[in-house]
This record gives sequence, C-alpha cells and structure tokens, in this order.
Amino acid sequence: MQQTDILIIGSGIAGLTYAVKMAGQFPNKKITILTKADTNETNTKYAQGGIAVVNDLKHDSFEKHIKDTLIAGDGLCNKKIVEMVVKEGPARVAELINWGAHFDKANDGDFLRGKEGGHSESRILHHKDITGWEVERSLVAVAKKMKNITFIQHCFVVDIITQHHLGYLVNKSTPDIICLGVYVLNHTNNKIEKILASITLFATGGNGQVYRTTTNPAVATGDGVAMVYRAKGRVENMEFIQFHPTALYIAGARGQAFLLTEALRGDGGILRNMHDEAFMEKYDERKDLAPRDIVARAIDHEMKINGTEHVWLDCRHFPEKKFTEHFPNIYQKCLSIGIDMSKQMIPVSPAAHYSCGGIKTDEWGRSSIAHLYACGECSSTGLHGANRLASNSLLEAMVFAHRCFLDSTKLLSRKEGTVKNINEENKETGFIWRQNKTINNKDIPDWNAKGTSHPKEMILITQSLKELQLLMSDYVGIVRNNIRLHRAMRRLDLLWEETENLYHSSTLSPQLLELRNMITVGYLIVKGAGFRKESRGLHYNTDYPEKSKLVQNIVL
Ligand code: FAD
Ligand code: SIN
Repeated sequence: MQQTDILIIGSGIAGLTYAVKMAGQFPNKKITILTKADTNETNTKYAQGGIAVVNDLKHDSFEKHIKDTLIAGDGLCNKKIVEMVVKEGPARVAELINWGAHFDKANDGDFLRGKEGGHSESRILHHKDITGWEVERSLVAVAKKMKNITFIQHCFVVDIITQHHLGYLVNKSTPDIICLGVYVLNHTNNKIEKILASITLFATGGNGQVYRTTTNPAVATGDGVAMVYRAKGRVENMEFIQFHPTALYIAGARGQAFLLTEALRGDGGILRNMHDEAFMEKYDERKDLAPRDIVARAIDHEMKINGTEHVWLDCRHFPEKKFTEHFPNIYQKCLSIGIDMSKQMIPVSPAAHYSCGGIKTDEWGRSSIAHLYACGECSSTGLHGANRLASNSLLEAMVFAHRCFLDSTKLLSRKEGTVKNINEENKETGFIWRQNKTINNKDIPDWNAKGTSHPKEMILITQSLKELQLLMSDYVGIVRNNIRLHRAMRRLDLLWEETENLYHSSTLSPQLLELRNMITVGYLIVKGAGFRKESRGLHYNTDYPEKSKLVQNIVL
C-alpha cells in the first residue's frame, strides 16, 4: 500500500497544471502523478490548432467569445460556466506562457491569432501546428523541476476506492460517496496495489478509441468516466461525441488518424467533394468555418450521396510560406505519404475527436464523489453543451485545473490528515458523511485476485475491441436513429457479458481493463443517445430531427 497527499491520474494539460499549482502551494505535501503510458503520451501532445482566448481587447471581446461558445453549444451550455471560463482564460494562458510555453508572434511582437470554425474573431494562440506538443513540453519541464512531484509511468488505474470497499452499501442514491484512493495495476509485478490519498484528481482525458477511427492516441479509452460510473458517481451528456471533420483519410486504416487542423480552413482551406464542388455553401452560410457538428454532418452526407469514403481539403492556393511557417508538421506529414499540399488536395474524412460529456462536476471541478475532482476532457463542466467550440478544450482544462487547485487548498487547510475527520470537512464541501465513522486505512482490503488465471488467448480481447469500435462507428456515429441505437445496445450487452466473464476469471492486463472501460463508455454513449429524443448539437437522430423544447442534460 502506498500513501500520498495528492494523487493525480493523468499527465496532460489538466493533470499537470493542477500538479504544478499544488506542488508550489504545498511544498511539504507529496504529489503523485500516475499515467498508464509514457508521461507525455496524452491527447494534449497531439493538439494542433491552439488555445482560444481573448487577449486582444482592441479587436475582440469576452462577449463575442461567450456568444460563439453558446452558439456552438446549441442551447445546452451553462452560461455561468461559459462566462467564467472565457473571463478567467487570459490569466491562465498568461501563467502558461510564464511557465515557458511559446506561442507564435508577428514581427511587431504581438501574438499571431488563428481562426477556427464557429469563431467570430481570430483568437487562437498557437505554436505552429503543434501547439499541444509545446504545451506538454513546457508543463512537463516545470513539473519535473518540482521536488515534491513524483511521476509514476505505465501504471494503470483500475478502480476508485470508496467506502463500498469497506463493506458499506453504495449506490446511485448514496449522497456521500468518498474517494479514498485507487487500485492500480503495477506493471512490474502484475499485481493490483492500493494507493491512498487525501485528494484525488481525475485528468484521464477522452475516449476516442471507442470508435474505429479517431484523432486520439491509444491512451484515450475513457477509463476515468468508466471508473466514476462504476463507483456510482455521476456522468452526463455522454452522447455528445465530437467528430472532427478533417482527419487524414487512409484507405482501410483503423485507430489513430492524423489530424488536419481546422486552422487550415481558418486560413482559407476549402472542402470539396468528388465533383470538385466547394459543397459547404449548400449547408451553412459560414461555409467551411461553420461549427464542427455542421461541417462533419455535411461531409458525412456528401460521402453518402456520392458513395465515397472521403472528401478533399484544398489548400493549393495558400502562399508557400504558410506551409513552412504555420503548418510545417502537416506539410511534412503529407509529403511523407506522397501528397504535396501546394499542388494536390488532401483526402479527409471525419473521425471521433472529443467527448463533450463526462464526469459531472460543479464550478470548482468537484465530482459527485467527495475528495475526487475531475478536470480536462474527462469532465463535464457545462462549458461545451451539445458541441464544443474549437480550441476551447485546452482553455477549459487550465481554468478548471486552477479552480480544482483553489478548492483543494480550502479542503486541505481545513484539516490535516483529511480522511480521518471526513465528517467535518464534508459538511463544508456539501458532502455529509452519514455514518459518522472514522475511516481506518488499514481496513481497506487488498485486491482479491483469487481464482483468476492468465488468459490463454488475446484474440478474445482484440476481437471484442474490433467489434466494439465497428458497432460504435456504424450505429452510433455522426448520424443515428432508433433502430441503430437499439442494435448497438444489444451487441454491447453481449460484449459486456463476455468481457465481465473474462474479467472475473483472468489475471488483469491493461488491454482487458481498457476493453472493459470502453464497453462501459460505449454503453453510456448509447444510453445517453437513447434518452435524448431530439437532435441537438453533435447528437443527430433522424427519428427526432428537431430540437426538443425541453432543454436538459442527461445525467447517468
Ligand atoms: P490528456 O491530455 O488526454 O491526458 C490523459 C492522461 O490520463 C494521460 O496521461 C493518460 O496516461 C492518463 N490516463 C488515462 N487513463 C488512465 C488510467 N486508467 N490509468 C493511468 N493513467 C491514465 N483542444 C484544443 O483546445 N485545441 C486544439 O488545438 C486541440 N487539438 C487537438 C488535436 C488532436 C489530434 C486531439 C486528439 C485533440 C485536440 N484537442 C484540442 C483536444 C485536447 O487536446 C484535449 O481535450 C486535451 O488535451 C485533454 O487534456 P487532458 O489533460 O484532459 O487529458
Ligand atoms: C484542430 O486543430 O482542428 C483541433 C482543435 C480542437 O479540437 O479544438
């Protein structure tokens, strides 16, 4: 058993921002960051377009960014949260710059600001076309300098420890579930161990891997959401999966697809169909810069009516230096597969990109489970509503990491030792510990692996994963209907049953744990989609093509 003061799951922008702040504020506290892969293997590292922020009040305003976010969110954003994130954003970006992140500037020293779909102004700060790489680089560098931060890589978090593990009844109506730490799979000895903490932050990122093609790396399997759901915490709006309109199309490819940033369209890139037609004007007056839900649906429609697997992105008219100065990574990637963007169009198709829903939090990043915060892509804060505005994700992660830090500071300064006096602390944080008991760490049981043995065939896992990704892409993709959702649920039921059998009889592996989590996430997406009897934002159901008058979040 290990003990730490602050436990952070995830080393993307959300986890690292929180870690750096906590480590600075509490030099005597032990802060542990767990990641299931290498530290820098995160969605954050792959971000391209940049960070949306209003830091040029001569040409832009908070009101405009707020309005753009609300329009993209299609009636489901929490306006208070939108205002808060937009207004607190500039201070967080300034901190990031202070920590060493570089954003492109013009010769006069002012930032170069890009434009993306749904933005009424150019406000996206970027580092060429590899903004995420630069953000991750600078945050890892700062965090590694802090003596009280420990990084543990290749350590798979399996489940949240709550009072359920001490024998108390915990269900969805339990008002006072408490996070005491996590069970983790130690790769070095293949054993499940306990790590206990006063405060745990989930910054576990997205779930794009649930689909056949995604812009997300292999780590994005929705583990955090699945764990919170299993621990009887609240998750919401899981049906809003954002498909990025322009991932590089490669025939027959599965898994992570290379992104062609929306900033290319912000700089004049044009989508064309097989007849060379610039089709977006048929769908929206904002043409290629309409919000992503609209562009992705338009591409999906064009592909279906023309019987093709992709459309084209045309950047041939760009001035030469655009390729070398703003988009060098994309330019090189295309060259490496034989496409010269200055002379040829690029084949693109939509791919799963971002989860707008997730672990439900309040404005301080508190989940429904006491002592468990969530921020970044795994959370659902109310910012994105039914569709995220481009480049608002990195901004949200930083603003909420800061808020989690502020609230954690309050929680820690109330009482040393935390879980020991949980009753008093929880009264103030709004969670009442009903049993009025002191939790003794020694009572938390070890993981019970009795009766399990090594799985003989990996095919049982890999084939189920393929089936899951196929069914989610074909039945629960950009366009849905009731029959498809019903079929998806029946197939998920079978996959779930088979995988649970495997889980209870096998020695655990990251592959099996990820499959189990992804089936849970698939179930949550289908369940949310089934409950939402309307079409709104990213959820489009041909059986209910209109928006409902009842504007509601779907909480599971
Ligand atoms: P991540 O950066 O994904 O980090 C997740 C962490 O959790 C990883 O360290 C992982 O190891 C860990 N983890 C997960 N599960 C477990 C487990 N079970 N055990 C242990 N560790 C675990 N957004 C923008 O705002 N602007 C952009 O330009 C932009 N471009 C993008 C381009 C691409 C290709 C992609 C994929 C996304 C882009 N996004 C962009 C979205 C944005 O990058 C992500 O939403 C954001 O980086 C998520 O950060 P995060 O800190 O929440 O999680
Ligand atoms: C992109 O660069 O197109 C991705 C931006 C985002 O997902 O916010």
